[in-house]
Amino acid sequence: MSGQRVCVEDFEKEAKKVLPKAVYDYYRSGADEQNTLADNVAAFKRYRLLPQTLYIISCIHLIISFLTSPLILPLYCVGSTGIDFMRYPDGGQATGRSCRAVGTGMMLSSWATSTIEEVMSAMTASPGGVLWLQLYIYKDRELTLSLVHRAEEAGYKAIFVTVDTPYLGRRWDDMRNRFKLPSHLSMSNFSSASLAFSEGNYGNDSGLAVYVAKAIDPTLCWDDITWLKKHTHLPVIVKGVLNGEDAVQAVNYGVDGILVSNHGARQLDGVPATLDVLEEVVKAVQGRCDVYLDGGVRRGTDVLKALALGAKAVFIGRPVLWGLACQGQQGVTEVLELIKEELRLAMALSGCRSVSEVSRSLVRRLEFTSRM
Ligand code: GLV
Repeated sequence: MSGQRVCVEDFEKEAKKVLPKAVYDYYRSGADEQNTLADNVAAFKRYRLLPQTLYIISCIHLIISFLTSPLILPLYCVGSTGIDFMRYPDGGQATGRSCRAVGTGMMLSSWATSTIEEVMSAMTASPGGVLWLQLYIYKDRELTLSLVHRAEEAGYKAIFVTVDTPYLGRRWDDMRNRFKLPSHLSMSNFSSASLAFSEGNYGNDSGLAVYVAKAIDPTLCWDDITWLKKHTHLPVIVKGVLNGEDAVQAVNYGVDGILVSNHGARQLDGVPATLDVLEEVVKAVQGRCDVYLDGGVRRGTDVLKALALGAKAVFIGRPVLWGLACQGQQGVTEVLELIKEELRLAMALSGCRSVSEVSRSLVRRLEFTSRM
C-alpha cells in the first residue's frame, strides 16, 4: 500500500484533486443541508468499544456466509452510487476484480456505466466472484424485469431493490452544477438515450433529478415486493429501511434481507444515521432475515461496531469511489485491504477471534459511559 494513504480520508483528499469538480461533488454530496450526511459518520463515534483482554488471539477469521455465498470479509462494495465510474469508465470491472481479490462481493448499480454482463465476466475471469444487482423499479415494468432476468442469466446472486427513491433528493451541488454524465458515458444497461441518461439537455436542474422524475416509478408499494419476488428466483433484499415497523412489513412480505440505508444521506435530509436505527431494525426482525447496513462506514472499527449492533455485514460506497479515482483497480484494492486490516486489528485488540464472537457487549453508546 502507498506510504501516504493511511486512512480512507487520504484517498478522498487525493480523489478530490484528480476528479472534475462536478463529479467529485456528485459523489461526495448528500441532500439539502447534509445534516444526515455528517451524522452517518458521526454516529460511529457515539459508540465506544469495550475490549476483552487476555484472549489467545493468534488467528482472526473474517469469514461469514452471505445468503448462500461464503465470503472472507463481512464488508461489501456498493456500486450503487449510481454513475460510479466517471473517471474510469470500466470501473465496474475494476471494482469487481478488486472485490474478488480481497474475497468479498459487489453490488452493481442499475445505473452503472458498465453492464451487468461486463462486470460479471470481469469478476468470473477467475473463480470466486460474487455479484448482486441493485435495482430501481422503473415505470416500465418490463424494462425492470429485463434487468432482473439479465442478472439471473449472468449468475448474480441476489437483487437489492431500492425503496427510498420515488424521486431524487435535493442535492444542492448537483443542482448548481446542473449535473449530467460526461458525454462519453452512459448508464450502460440501457439502450435508449433517455433511459441511459445521455440525452444531453436536462435544463437548469440536476439532470439526474429530471431523469428519476421521468423514469422511476414513484408509486412503489409493498405489493411490488410480492410482484418482484414472483418474477425472480433470486433472493430479494430491500435497501432503504430505517425503522422497525417497515422492517416487520418487509419480513411479512417475505424478503430475504434488509439493508438499513438512507442512500448515503442523498435522499431525505434529517433522517437518522443508519447506525442509530440499526438495533431497532435488528430487534424488530427477530432473526427472521439478515440485516445489513450502509452509510458512514470509513474504518475497520466502524465495521466492528455495526457487527456488534447486529448487522450481518456492511456495505461501503464512497470509499470505493475514492480508491477508484486515485488509482483504478489498485486503488479499490488498497481501500478494501485497508479496511480489512483495520477490522482484523480491531477484532484482535477486542478479543474477538471470529465474526461470530463479536457480540452486543462489545459496544456502548457514549452517553451511557462514564466520562471518556
Ligand atoms: C444513485 O444512487 C444516487 O443516489 O445518485
